[in-house]
Amino acid sequence: MRKFSPRLDNIGTEDAFSVMIKANKFEREELTPHGKKLIRLQIGEPAFNTPKHINKAAIKAIKDNQTHYTAPPGIREVRTALAAQSSKMTGVDFDTEDIIVHSGAKPSAFYTINAVVDPGDETIVFDPAWPIYASVTNYLGGTTKFIPLKEELGFQPDIEEVKAAITDRTVLMVVNTPCNPTGGVFSDETLAALAKVAVDNDLWVLSDEIYDHIVFEGEHRSILNHPGMEDRTILLNGASKTYAMTGYRMGWSATKNKHMGYVIERIQTNDTSCPPSMNQLALKEAVSSKKTPAAVEEMRLEYLKRRDLIHGLVNDIPGLSANLPKGTFYLFANAKPLCEKLNCNSAELADKIMREAHVLVLHGTSFGPHGEGFIRFSYVSSEEDIREGARRIKEWAEKLMA
Ligand SMILES: Cc1ncc(COP(=O)(O)O)c(C=O)c1O
Repeated sequence: MRKFSPRLDNIGTEDAFSVMIKANKFEREELTPHGKKLIRLQIGEPAFNTPKHINKAAIKAIKDNQTHYTAPPGIREVRTALAAQSSKMTGVDFDTEDIIVHSGAKPSAFYTINAVVDPGDETIVFDPAWPIYASVTNYLGGTTKFIPLKEELGFQPDIEEVKAAITDRTVLMVVNTPCNPTGGVFSDETLAALAKVAVDNDLWVLSDEIYDHIVFEGEHRSILNHPGMEDRTILLNGASKTYAMTGYRMGWSATKNKHMGYVIERIQTNDTSCPPSMNQLALKEAVSSKKTPAAVEEMRLEYLKRRDLIHGLVNDIPGLSANLPKGTFYLFANAKPLCEKLNCNSAELADKIMREAHVLVLHGTSFGPHGEGFIRFSYVSSEEDIREGARRIKEWAEKLMA
């Protein structure tokens, strides 16, 4: 029998994508014949179009025949623009050479984890979390140590639990703030304490700040801003969320650690060679055009409106309650009373909500074991869809909890 690598037994997936296949089939077979549709509140993708001036830059790049390979870490002027943007957002002085542009932000996580995790090594991941950190760690033969993000602490970790989880095999800590899926934002005290843990234990830190422009209270804070972090941190960022550019697949790593920058570039050379040239030029326009801040702010204010709307509506559903998200476009709702009533877990609950209330949400355990008892709503959808989705779940839950 021709072999597949046993490594593949440990690679995970992203339910946000896989659940769509199941939902499409259900909709096609069970709802469409009756003229009905699912309300989709699961997707982690801005519903806005990419701002026009960014699309124009991509079209211009093609017209100018910018359609060739670029240097593996990206076009120099694009990297310079990203260095300026990353410096502004984190307080660290990044240079052009500190930036490696990727085809999406996802490769930053994949390359970084590949660079540091060997079989038997451990990664600290705050749970619930975007599933890729654990998936890649486990794929490489490492172990993911999940530290719970506590609802009662506003989805912050308990620092004593972080310290207790560290062993001599711990190599990496992943910090994601603002956080998918909780909508929580780590406080400066939490970031300072995590930075100290990283320094005391000489850990690498992957700081995923892809939602840095979607915060609703105060300014974005980065762990990079704390002492001892510059040389050990890889900043992950991207264009998908801030500029509604998911399909462009544009992201970047920023690191002051020269050796890490070299390693990430080397892995990328073996993977995609370089990111698409015309998309890099669109990304440069996104981060440097004077037209961008207004477009980004317009989207943020829309998310803010929808956050308040969905927060009110979800808290009005029997059996559901949710903290007010401080960032991102997700609301992580405690559904434990509904799970108890139905004697089911959150995956079964999300499935029932799809089949019986005709609304698509993600179950909390898509994001790790501590997501049990929760469901994630995304509020990128139109106000109309948010209202209709909440109305359907409320009607369904009222009957159930009566
Ligand atoms: C926390 C987090 N990090 C990184 C990414 C990757 O984004 P992309 O590869 O679209 O740039 C996502 C996308 O959902 C995310 O939620």
